[in-house]
Amino acid sequence: MGEAKLEAWLEETRTFQPSAAFVAQANAHAAIYEEADHDPERWWRAQANRLVWHKEPTKILEWESPFAKWFADGTLNASVNCVDRHVEAGNGDKVAYHWIGDGEGERRTITYAELLCLVSQAANALTELGVKEGDRVAVYMPMIPEAVVAMLAIVRLGAMHSVIFGGFSADALASRILDSGCTFVITADGAFRRGAASPLKPAVDEALESCPDVRAVLVVKRTAGEIEWVPTRDHWWHEIVDRQSSTHEAKFFEAEHPLFLMYTSGTTAKPKGIFHTTAGYLTQAAATYYYVLDVKAEKDVCWTAADIGWITGHSYIVYGPLINGATQILYEGLPDSGGKDRWWKIIEEYGVSILYTAPTTIRMLMKWGDELPAGHDLSSLRLLGSVGEPINPEAWIWFYETIGASRCPIIDTWWQTETGSMMVSPLPGVAAAKPGAAMRGMPGISVDVVNEAGQSVANGEGGYLVITKPWPAMTRGIYGDPSRFQSTYWDRFPGKYFAGDGAKRDKDGDIWLLGRIDDVMNISGHRLSTTEVEHALVGHPAVAEAAVVGASDDTTGQAIVAFVTLKFVKDDHEQNHAEIIEELRQHVAKVISPIARPRQIILTPDLPKTRSGKIMRRLLQDVAESRSLGDVTTLTDPLVVNMIAGLMESSSNED
Ligand code: WT7
Repeated sequence: MGEAKLEAWLEETRTFQPSAAFVAQANAHAAIYEEADHDPERWWRAQANRLVWHKEPTKILEWESPFAKWFADGTLNASVNCVDRHVEAGNGDKVAYHWIGDGEGERRTITYAELLCLVSQAANALTELGVKEGDRVAVYMPMIPEAVVAMLAIVRLGAMHSVIFGGFSADALASRILDSGCTFVITADGAFRRGAASPLKPAVDEALESCPDVRAVLVVKRTAGEIEWVPTRDHWWHEIVDRQSSTHEAKFFEAEHPLFLMYTSGTTAKPKGIFHTTAGYLTQAAATYYYVLDVKAEKDVCWTAADIGWITGHSYIVYGPLINGATQILYEGLPDSGGKDRWWKIIEEYGVSILYTAPTTIRMLMKWGDELPAGHDLSSLRLLGSVGEPINPEAWIWFYETIGASRCPIIDTWWQTETGSMMVSPLPGVAAAKPGAAMRGMPGISVDVVNEAGQSVANGEGGYLVITKPWPAMTRGIYGDPSRFQSTYWDRFPGKYFAGDGAKRDKDGDIWLLGRIDDVMNISGHRLSTTEVEHALVGHPAVAEAAVVGASDDTTGQAIVAFVTLKFVKDDHEQNHAEIIEELRQHVAKVISPIARPRQIILTPDLPKTRSGKIMRRLLQDVAESRSLGDVTTLTDPLVVNMIAGLMESSSNED
């Protein structure tokens, strides 16, 4: 988001007040800010009562910067908190998930009682396969109920899941399995995308060639495709899970017992295993689901339209909603599987009342035209939410007016894989909203915007977003690398957690997020590091050097533009260039994921560097976004930049 553009928006900011009807029924009320401010630790202790404890904690926070322990002497089981409790409370018949397959006709409804049976059977099967407390289990699956069941069964046993988005390549899967020492993998034979089956297990087979410690692979049959089978290692889900007993007695674990790992990109080529533990994470996921998504378990139909392979899916499809006993939509397909009005059909058919999604999807739906939503009854909607990147006011207003009929508050929620749960957001029914602003820290969360020197900025000024006090769902570190946790997040502003985002306080003191200030890109709400993509490019035998930038893009927020110098140039024939560019794009998709495939690759004989030899990425970003070039006096050869700008203009190798 450009500074000048933002400035213009701020000038004419419109403020949206929640309706009296919404305020009257909202879960949140203004007093909770004061309550939480007055004594944040007591506030969080009260929120921890949303969990069922085997042993109630007497401790709240133990803080040895940068490592926190929350509720440390309590004991509980995460899976029991999500499932068993609701059955025990007599709500077993309540629907937990309405699963909707990629194809039109595929439906499955799972009640809490049924979920308990499935999770118990899966826990028994995993036990039979040898999974035990402390193990790491990789989950590489499409959006099918078994994915949720697998996660809950793993944590039920006190093991940790490491869910890896199904769009990641075999290489990416292997490096994550190795980094965390996973010894089991749960996957499916394939997945459906717009009606077509695509295999998933071959990527697991390929990954496991370099992961000798993986002892067993559990495979859900989702498609009819033939797959390779390793009899000593592979097990069909339907053969081993279905025959298990549907009861399983859960053990209880300490509050700080490891819960899961979620890999995310940092500024280096190596993704970080973000480590989360049990009670603090569950407390904040549940409390934010209650106050920010305003869930009324008795009547709402909630839809977090995200993949369980990302933190949004963990916190707001699995843990937060289940603890609250919510009824949800679990949708396998893409927004246009079976037609571009698929989402609106689902909302109409199921009476979805709460819809939480990402700006990139909102922009895509907006581009498909107003006639599609207009053709459906969306009057069941009462709250809309956005997450993953700054939402541009145009998309916000479209979402508000066209989808929410100017009736539904919008929550713009800022948080990260590392924060575990929502951190900055307006509370619906309490705070006014401004299109494009995440507004203020949530009750019990202390955020600030600071300048280079770490001092709070005044209203109307910009700086860096920091979190000034520990919070329950905060990551307990980077798996296997405690010093990297300190240096990445805590060294820049001593005593404060630095998120990596630029931010601004407007004249009213409300917070606007301005995007990453480091070398992390945000492509359709997915985090990728420039270094990671450069690394992949340089891994190709023809590439000598690569520089990657995130250039702003109308739909995906940012898109990847790569500047590449080749080791050898066969001849200067254009045909040849087009071929190598396509080969490099496919190479990145294969090494990392199709998400990381550059929108554009510019072959250049040279890259602009400072006298000390550093590639000038900022300048390349200007070139990629066709902005006027700033100060180039430190360049060894200013001509290089002009040459690249020329190449950029004559190239257009988008999809
Ligand atoms: C980064 C975290 C949170 C779950 C999905 C992404 C950006 C996230 C917002 C928002 C502006 C946002 C930040 C953050 N981001 N939400 N509402 N407004 N920016 O999780 O992959 O860990 O990425 O996403 O840059 O640092 P993630």
